[in-house]
Amino acid sequence: MDFELSSEQRLLQDTVRSFARAELLPVAAEIDEKGEFPHAQVARLGELGLMGIAMPTEWGGSGMDAVSYALAMEEVSAGCASCGVIMSVNNSLVCDPILKFGTQAQKQRYLPALASGKQLGCFALSEPGTGSDAAAQKTTAIRQGDEWVLNGSKNFITNGREADVCLVLAMGDRTKGVKGINAYLVPTQSPGFSVAKNEKKLGIKGSSTSQIALDDVRLPADSLLGEEGQGFKIAMATLDGGRIGIASQALGIARQAMEEARTYALERQAFGGPIADLQAIQFMFADMATEVDAARLLIWRAAALKDRGQRYATAAAMAKLFASETANRVTNKALQVFGGYGYCKDYPAERHLRDARITEIYEGTSEIQRLVVARSMLSGG
Ligand code: CAA
Repeated sequence: MDFELSSEQRLLQDTVRSFARAELLPVAAEIDEKGEFPHAQVARLGELGLMGIAMPTEWGGSGMDAVSYALAMEEVSAGCASCGVIMSVNNSLVCDPILKFGTQAQKQRYLPALASGKQLGCFALSEPGTGSDAAAQKTTAIRQGDEWVLNGSKNFITNGREADVCLVLAMGDRTKGVKGINAYLVPTQSPGFSVAKNEKKLGIKGSSTSQIALDDVRLPADSLLGEEGQGFKIAMATLDGGRIGIASQALGIARQAMEEARTYALERQAFGGPIADLQAIQFMFADMATEVDAARLLIWRAAALKDRGQRYATAAAMAKLFASETANRVTNKALQVFGGYGYCKDYPAERHLRDARITEIYEGTSEIQRLVVARSMLSGG
């Protein structure tokens, strides 16, 4: 087994780390404080080829692999967790399914702009009453002549307000259950498509999380992504890749929190020396470092399986489950190292804790990841 990154992957890692330290980390607190979408930073992600990192170069991407995507996501998220999720959704939840399930015309229309970061995508599966039970879609898609007509409401849509194109899941034929769900590529300028509200959140405040209303949105027949009835499978397969991205986001947040706590522990004096000399603090670092490393290995395994064209749904669920829970434990411990200062906004520890929390919820809660892993394990998969 080879744990070494290729020279290309190491170069990417170094480049994105330098970029994140120079251009994201210094503004992350301000992005959080203002709660505004980081347009300038997202434009830079596009310039650096990070908005379509695993898309082929012929489609405007960087032509790299899933491991590279995970590496870049870790670095960007260590700099700014909001930028991390904006990048992850565009890469995993929009570009990936268009590449995998799109027609040549759909790829031509959408991929070059999305993968180069000139446009932004969002993914609309969740609804006000439909979260973990994703198959219970209430949004409807009715065929009228040459058109599809979409009606419904979508909830918690990352990039919802800024996106140019939205991948929408909708129920085309309720009598067929999950096999009645379709996927559509919807330009957000379509009449009837509107952003109802942005949520006020605990963390990742720079990314928009929006409610979207679909009110008689009329789409040409060729807006269907994949086959009729394939929508649920497209959504699930898409989320398998997305979970690698969110796991990497969680890892980046955890690593950054741990590194900042390390710097503090080596400087802060108590009981006659730096608190890093105290075994109580040392044990916290031992646990944090071990969990961060274990999360990274699970992520790399899932990404490597994807790159080899092997089944990776369970590996991605394990990586997302462990990395997100690690991020919550690590950011909590890191804050503890700072003591009272960690609870105050003068230090970023409290932001890391707030940013980490969502990684256990979106793109499948920890409970859903456990369900995916358990089903696979118990069925011998
Ligand atoms: N790949 C391909 N197909 C899959 C699949 C996968 N990973 N998982 C399931 N399917 C297929 C099944 O094979 C089955 O098809 P067949 O009948 O032909 O075999 C079909 O889909 C139905 O599967 P299930 O019976 O397993 O479906 P279920 O109703 O029990 O649901 C679930 C499974 C795992 C609970 C699923 O609903 C789920 O993942 N829920 C969580 C939803 C989620 O992650 N939401 C996140 C929203 S997006 C977001 O957060 C983005 C953002 O903005 C950041």
